[in-house]
Amino acid sequence: MNHLAKALFICGCITWSSSVVFGQNEIASKKFLQHERVVGAGKCIECHESEVSAWRATPHYENKDLHTKDKAREIARKMGIASAARIRSSQLCVQCHFTAQKLGNAPSRVIDGVSCESCHGGAKHWLDIHNTGDRRDGNDTTAARTKAVEAGMLPPDDYCSIAQNCFSCHIVTDEKLVNVGGHPAGSADFELVAWLEGMVRHNFFASNGKTNDATPIERRRMLYIAGVALDLEYSLRGLARAKKKADYGKFMGRSTQTARTALNSIVKTLAENAPEQLEQMITAVNKPGLLKFFNVGPLTAAADSVSASLKDFCRQHNGHSFGAIDGMLPTEGRGPVFQP
Ligand code: HEC
Ligand code: HEC
Ligand code: HEC
Ligand code: HEC
Repeated sequence: MNHLAKALFICGCITWSSSVVFGQNEIASKKFLQHERVVGAGKCIECHESEVSAWRATPHYENKDLHTKDKAREIARKMGIASAARIRSSQLCVQCHFTAQKLGNAPSRVIDGVSCESCHGGAKHWLDIHNTGDRRDGNDTTAARTKAVEAGMLPPDDYCSIAQNCFSCHIVTDEKLVNVGGHPAGSADFELVAWLEGMVRHNFFASNGKTNDATPIERRRMLYIAGVALDLEYSLRGLARAKKKADYGKFMGRSTQTARTALNSIVKTLAENAPEQLEQMITAVNKPGLLKFFNVGPLTAAADSVSASLKDFCRQHNGHSFGAIDGMLPTEGRGPVFQP
């Protein structure tokens, strides 16, 4: 029996008694898309036609008809959602499956599946700022881009923050939804580079919409490392809030262990080029006895520590000196790359 299995076995006998720290339906570290700020992909198409076409070929777009699926109806019923139609108005499902918009005093209304704004931020306050110039025409757009970010835009350069959104949806840290609702605990084989470089890829900027280019290798290295760190952070938070030894907690335990192993091998492979932020993460998560059920304080502290080190890592590095991990990067993307 490995350490984790042992820990899970031992702790499974203890019933959860101490204070319940998190609300039943709260999603860990999820940055909710504010419905008041949503403008809709229809506002992007005029200038980003290829991006919109690429997105429309992904399940992020197609999942609009979720409420008609048997499995969705079953989950909703088990979660006490009154009717299948309510799936589209239940914030529990909407936060991960849809983009909802709130106009004036009218109630929020689902307008799309997972959309541009689910990843880049609600655009109401940045739409008309971010496009005041175009650097492809030789303009200096630095000031406008800074302003757009201040107004809530997550730009491609801030890929570590965008990636956080991926994990807040693709790791489902809601125990009831999984154990009672029967919802998957997340996308088991989610790996940031592969899942971003396949059907989700929309790198048209440099070619002005003509070709969907691969993400440069330096950035892919950064994304690979950031993906492992985020996987670790979200799984640690997920494990921290497990109140039972059942499907949800077991998934989080396995997922934490896999991510920790992956991080250890990145650091080993980078050897003398391993940055201090990754060493800090290793110190935070390699503590003996950390990965066990009901270890709320230490697990949360480890997740916070990984998160802080990751922010610093993303600020300080650009991937140039991490060539040693190229052999670890996935060679195939998830799903076909859209080309115009
Ligand atoms: C009227 C045209 C126009 C519309 C509408 C528009 N954009 Fe843009 N967008 C641009 C231009 C021009 C740039 C390049 C700005 C620059 O060079 O700094 C850009 C840049 C971007 C970038 C960053 C690219 C980079 O590498 O910095 C993102 C992300 C983006 N737009 C998303 C969106 C989204 C999402 C929408 C809809 C909510 C949208 N845009 C609507 C014209 C537009
Ligand atoms: C934390 C984000 C999150 C929440 C909350 C969430 N989902 Fe999901 N859901 C996902 C993700 C991510 C997937 C895709 C998982 C995968 O890769 O297989 C998914 C998949 C599904 C599937 C397909 C499952 C299968 O076995 O094929 C259904 C149906 C579904 N969700 C329904 C719901 C319903 C109904 C709700 C609200 C009660 C809900 N989801 C809430 C993120 C979420
Ligand atoms: C707002 C929540 C949300 C965000 C943010 C999000 N996803 Fe998803 N994603 C989903 C859901 C839900 C599905 C399942 C859709 C379905 O099948 O109905 C999904 C499906 C996918 C799929 C299709 C998987 C398959 O093979 O069917 C890929 C690839 C993917 N996401 C990659 C990403 C990446 C990469 C990011 C971040 C850059 C990301 N997602 C951000 C919710 C999200
Ligand atoms: C699943 C999350 C997700 C969705 C949905 C999404 N984006 Fe992006 N977008 C990203 C990420 C991550 C990057 C950075 C990609 C990279 O570095 O490889 C990016 C990059 C971009 C870029 C710059 C690409 C380049 O060539 O430099 C633009 C412009 C953009 N997105 C616009 C949009 C528009 C418009 C939509 C909606 C049609 C959209 N995005 C939907 C996550 C997303």
